[in-house]
Amino acid sequence: MSALSLRNIEKSFGANQILKGISLDAAPGEFIALVGPSGCGKSTLLRILAGLESADAGEIVVGDTVITDMQPADRNVAMVFQSYALYPHLTASENIAVPLAMRRLSTLQRLPLVGPLMPGQRKAVSEIGRDVREMAAALKIDHLLDRKPGQMSGGQRQRVALARAMVRRPAVFLMDEPLSNLDANLRVHARGEIVELHRRAGVPTVYVTHDQAEALSMADRVAVMIGGEMLQLAAPQVIYDDPAHVEVAKFVGQPRINILNSHVMSGGIVAFAGAICELKDKNITSGSPVTIGFRPEFVKVIAGDEAGESGLRGRVERVEFLGSEIIAYCRLDAIGATVVAKLTPAEGGKLSSSTPVRLDVAADHLFVFGADGRRLAADPILQTNTAELAHG
Ligand SMILES: Nc1ncnc2c1ncn2[C@@H]1O[C@H](COP(=O)(O)OP(=O)(O)O)[C@@H](O)[C@H]1O
Ligand SMILES: [Mg+2]
Repeated sequence: MSALSLRNIEKSFGANQILKGISLDAAPGEFIALVGPSGCGKSTLLRILAGLESADAGEIVVGDTVITDMQPADRNVAMVFQSYALYPHLTASENIAVPLAMRRLSTLQRLPLVGPLMPGQRKAVSEIGRDVREMAAALKIDHLLDRKPGQMSGGQRQRVALARAMVRRPAVFLMDEPLSNLDANLRVHARGEIVELHRRAGVPTVYVTHDQAEALSMADRVAVMIGGEMLQLAAPQVIYDDPAHVEVAKFVGQPRINILNSHVMSGGIVAFAGAICELKDKNITSGSPVTIGFRPEFVKVIAGDEAGESGLRGRVERVEFLGSEIIAYCRLDAIGATVVAKLTPAEGGKLSSSTPVRLDVAADHLFVFGADGRRLAADPILQTNTAELAHG
C-alpha cells in the first residue's frame, strides 16, 4: 500500500494549465524529491497536497483516506516553507507549540487569562511543553527554545521550522525549498541533516527543490516535473543513467549533458563520433530527426592530429580547471557544435585552448531521443563488432 498517492492532479490558473495530470505514489517512509525548473508548478502541487489550493481534477490519498476535499487542518499533512514562516513575536518554543495548541486546546483554553482556568488546560499545556522539548532535543535545538526568530541564524530558524512541522507527527511531510535561504556551505550540511531527520521520523516526504544536485543526493526517488508533466519518477541513479526524456537528461548532471541534433540512417542506425547505436523500433524511417545525448564524462578526448583514426576531429576552445577534474569545451567545426568533456587531470592536464583533438564517445552511453523528446530504445554496437564487420 502506498502511504501517499496523487492521481492525475490537474490545475489551471486562467487559461494556463500548470499541472497536466500529475500522478505519484510514495511508499511508507519514502523520501521523494520533486524537481523541475522554476515556475513548473512544484509549489502549486505541494499547496494542493497541503490543501492550501484546490485541484481542478484528480485525487489525493493518504494511507487509505481520500483527503482531496479535506480542510488543511484535517489532513495531517505538515509543510515547511522556503520562508520558514515563523511567528516573529514568539520564541522558538512557542512557535513549535503552535500546531499542537491548535489541535489539543479549545479556543477558550488558548485564551491568555481565561485559558488556565478551563478544565484540562494545565495538563494539556504541560503535555505540549513536554512534546516541544522532546522534539527540540531530537533536532538539537534545546538551546534555542527561548530565542525569537530575530535572534537566530538562518540555519537555526530552518531547524525550528522543521521542528514545528514535525512535532505534530504528521502522516505526510512536505518541504518547499527549505534550504534555499541558506548559504552554500550550510545548505550542503543541512541536506544531510534533513535526510537524517527524515529517516528517524519515517514519514513519507515530498521535498521540492529546483536544485538537481540536492534532489539526487537526498532522495530515495526523484520526480522530474517539466512543463506541467511528470517526465520521470525513479531512483537518482536511474534518472541520471537512464533518462526517459531529453528534458530529464538536460535537467540533471553538471556540467550539462551534450545534446546534438542528428538523424536516423538506414537500418535504424544512429551514430556520433565513433558511437554507433541501432534503434529497436524498426518503424522509425531513415532520415527521421532525432536528438542524441551523451554525458561529458563519457567523451574521450585524444590530443593530436593523427590521420586515419576514428572519432571526430575538433579543437579545444576552452579549458576549465576544477581541481579534481578538468572541463574541456571542444569545437567541432564540421558540425558546428561544441562538445563538453569532463576529464581527470591526468587525461586533460595537457590540453589548452586551440589544441587539436579527436573525440570519441562510448556507444553504450549514447542516448537517442525522438522528436517528442521521449527516449528511443537503442542497442549499442560496440566498435570491436564494427571492426570485425569492416574486416570480414
Ligand atoms: N495563485 C496563482 N494565480 C495565478 N498564477 C499562479 C498562481 N500560483 C502560481 N501561479 C503560476 O503557476 C506557475 C507555477 O508556479 P509555482 O507552482 O509557484 O512554480 P514553482 O514552485 O515550480 O517555481 C507559475 O507560472 C506561476 O506564476
Ligand atoms: Mg516554488
